Amino acid sequence: MFSKLTKRAVSFAAGKKYNVNSVGSITSEQVFNRENKYGCHNYHPLPVALSEGEGVFVWDVEGKRYFDFLSAYSAVNQGHCHPKILNALHQQSKKLCLTSRAFYSDVLGEYEEFITKLFKYDKVCPMNTGVEGGETACKLARKWAYTVKNVPKNKAKIIFAANNFWGRTMSAISSSTDPSSYEGFGPFMPGFEIVPYNDISALEKTLQDTNVAAFMVEPIQGEAGVVVPEDGYLQTVRKLCTTYNVLFIADEVQTGLARTGRMLAVDHESVRPDILILGKALSGGMYPVSAVLADDEVMLTIKPGEHGSTYGGNALGSKVAIAALEVLIEEKLAENSEKMGNLLRTELKTIPTDIVTDVRGKGLLNAIVINKEYDAWDICLKLRDNGLLAKPTHGDIIRFAPPLVINEEQVLECTDIIKKTILSI
Ligand SMILES: Cc1ncc(COP(=O)(O)O)c(C=O)c1O
Repeated sequence: MFSKLTKRAVSFAAGKKYNVNSVGSITSEQVFNRENKYGCHNYHPLPVALSEGEGVFVWDVEGKRYFDFLSAYSAVNQGHCHPKILNALHQQSKKLCLTSRAFYSDVLGEYEEFITKLFKYDKVCPMNTGVEGGETACKLARKWAYTVKNVPKNKAKIIFAANNFWGRTMSAISSSTDPSSYEGFGPFMPGFEIVPYNDISALEKTLQDTNVAAFMVEPIQGEAGVVVPEDGYLQTVRKLCTTYNVLFIADEVQTGLARTGRMLAVDHESVRPDILILGKALSGGMYPVSAVLADDEVMLTIKPGEHGSTYGGNALGSKVAIAALEVLIEEKLAENSEKMGNLLRTELKTIPTDIVTDVRGKGLLNAIVINKEYDAWDICLKLRDNGLLAKPTHGDIIRFAPPLVINEEQVLECTDIIKKTILSI
């Protein structure tokens, strides 16, 4: 895996938690102040200033090592700076990076063939970010509704689940039920409706409207706090979508690509969505690459000039994505995610339930719920001090999603840090 024995590797093989090689000429405090002064204040980062990463580890500018338990919101499934993906990036960057889709390249078709065969869809639409994947899926669903399902012009509806999260564009926030996403940004996109997540009877009622084009849903709601639906939910969603001639769109931007212990989270229930959205780990954290997969009946409704992106399908991203997918397969990361996830949850469940009221997740997409008497942000600061980086969400939930290359010894070291930290509060 990380066979090249770097200076860092030597330092952690020796059990050292500091790396003098990552110490730069800037302090953490200077990093915080500079970002604060010149950057848009659209995030509230945990105060840690990172400068290097390898595998499950990151280092700050003072050389302190941390376990990364966020993995850039599941984009770094393959581990930081994976050598195979880096090599693909280097090799292709010397040859050809971007042509735009005005011309063919000798790489895009290779990637398209690889990814469509892997996930068994007729075609792929290459994009860059996850939210662009969601936008693409919505456009495909509307076009299909008008040209195949015969929904009257401009009447198509797309159904979303409450507490969904698929990004920050106008469409994404128009389907959001979280005021911090949409408040102050109206007017919103019409034709979007919300049903409760994990509520089959509400969904069935909504799908009976013949103007419904699609139901877009995350197999596990990531940003909502790793909300796992009841077993059988996805199978019933599939059945209902088929019955009412509605497209089932699975947003696997966060749950996909081995994160939950299967290549796709829908694989847990052996269902096949009509439209599959992938992103994040599709490039192993190297470069923004997203993809929308569908069969011809859906994909061919969009004609030349009706959708696109300058960078979508570029040669560099295509090679990176092939390498990122190969790593998942070659290193059996879905299997490791399932095994390590079981171990992680078993260990976390030993924390007294008056502090940690719930432990949930699948594979290595997990969260703990903290008793509201305690402050999840403070716990994350203490975890940071103890060498593990995690981020709270919704005030009382902490997500634990390390890179999928994590091994048993490391999981046990991390659960030790988490237990000691929580028990010390
Ligand atoms: C389920 C899901 N869909 C879409 C997105 C948006 O991806 P991006 O931030 O790459 O646009 C996210 C981001 O967290 C996500 O979790």
